[in-house]
Amino acid sequence: MTSSDPFRVGLLGHGTVGSAFHELLDARAEAIEAEVGRRPEIAGVLTRSQGSFDEILERSDLLVELMGGTEPTREYVLRAMSAGRHVVTANKQLLSQHGEELFQAAREGGVQLRFEAAVAGVVPAIRVMNETLAAAYIERVHGIVNGTTNFILTEMARTGESYSTALEQAQELGYAEADPSEDVSGKDAAAKMAILARLAFNAPVHLGQVPFEGIERVTVDDIEYAKELGLALKLIGSAERVDGGISVSVYPAFLYADHPLASVNGAFNAVTVESPAITEITLSGPGAGGPQTASAVLGDVISAMIPPPSLPPPAIDQPVITDVEFSFYLHLEVADRPGVLAQVAEILGMQGVSIKSVVQKGLGDDARLVMVMHPVLESKFRAAVDLISRLDFVRSEPRVIRVIEEAFEAPA
Ligand SMILES: NC(=O)c1ccc[n+]([C@@H]2O[C@H](COP(=O)([O-])OP(=O)(O)OC[C@H]3O[C@@H](n4cnc5c(N)ncnc54)[C@H](OP(=O)(O)O)[C@@H]3O)[C@@H](O)[C@H]2O)c1
Repeated sequence: MTSSDPFRVGLLGHGTVGSAFHELLDARAEAIEAEVGRRPEIAGVLTRSQGSFDEILERSDLLVELMGGTEPTREYVLRAMSAGRHVVTANKQLLSQHGEELFQAAREGGVQLRFEAAVAGVVPAIRVMNETLAAAYIERVHGIVNGTTNFILTEMARTGESYSTALEQAQELGYAEADPSEDVSGKDAAAKMAILARLAFNAPVHLGQVPFEGIERVTVDDIEYAKELGLALKLIGSAERVDGGISVSVYPAFLYADHPLASVNGAFNAVTVESPAITEITLSGPGAGGPQTASAVLGDVISAMIPPPSLPPPAIDQPVITDVEFSFYLHLEVADRPGVLAQVAEILGMQGVSIKSVVQKGLGDDARLVMVMHPVLESKFRAAVDLISRLDFVRSEPRVIRVIEEAFEAPA
């Protein structure tokens, strides 16, 4: 082989991203050759109806995996790496469930495994965490890592439409799939946060360790009341160091207007990384879409054409903790009679929950109490809400949403 031999790329999957990648590679091949000295070309394409994995593997220097799912994808990726081929993938489900096995296989095979497009599309979160921030002690990562849900929440806030109307609109515009459950349930974001946590804390985090809540139960009321309190509602992925370990989760949360994620609207994604050394860095941009994702995938291919490899270091086991402190918003529909607020406050106080702000509105015989609490351990707050929900004057299921309190402040 000489440096003028083409760099042969085997392509697994030719759907939304795979076909956009194929087109982009063809369009950019000449420019890439001028830049790195070798011309990338597609050595074969595998779909359900065309191509043979073994033949494509044999003919390729690198495999691009854009099939999705975990099987047979996992098997293909492992076989490629053990045969000495670099792999580029956009597959968050695969990495969040089998990441450690795959990283180990890459180390053993002496090959690269690159996955920039698996988290936040073309936003370069992986590269920045792996390379630029390799020396920073990361305390916390917050992300809006699902464009579908961010689009829906933005539309609800902008137009006052219900969740289901905003979802229909997202589907019409191609921002949501016909079956949107992975996105709206928070599971897609949970997979991405597991990957980000692995890189931020060097801890092996499996998707199964990431509790997630979606946006299906968010109401326009929540969003309207929140506006009065100066808050914006987002589906937030959070990964942070807590006493004795790390915590990774996904939940709808209110953000104060000056938080860097509060103004990320529509189908955009963004990731905020907080560390004493760097204070805070926020990266934002398109989180999905064929051409956008393909651009991140091709960027990885070009990086793999130029050594050295960039794998995360071996993981160190750290406890993953699920009961941590949050500030909460509580929305109650109650009978409008004297003493109601006092009783609610008393129960909260008994559990050690203190109220930060309250909005109260009468609605005929009923009233709405909307409160924001100071930070408290989630288990204590949930215990208080459970007791409150059983009070005879409470008219419907209390609604609870987390509030992200403060912007990060690095020590002086
Ligand atoms: N779409 C996005 O905006 C986006 C953004 C970021 C990351 N991603 C990730 O990128 C990957 C691909 O997504 P996509 O939206 O392009 O998916 P897609 O449109 O459904 O395409 C999947 C492709 O893989 C092929 N395939 C699936 N299972 C296969 C199997 N068992 N054997 C052979 N071929 C198989 C399909 O073949 P057939 O054509 O024969 O069905 C199809 O060509 C996923 O991991 C996804 O999470 C997507």
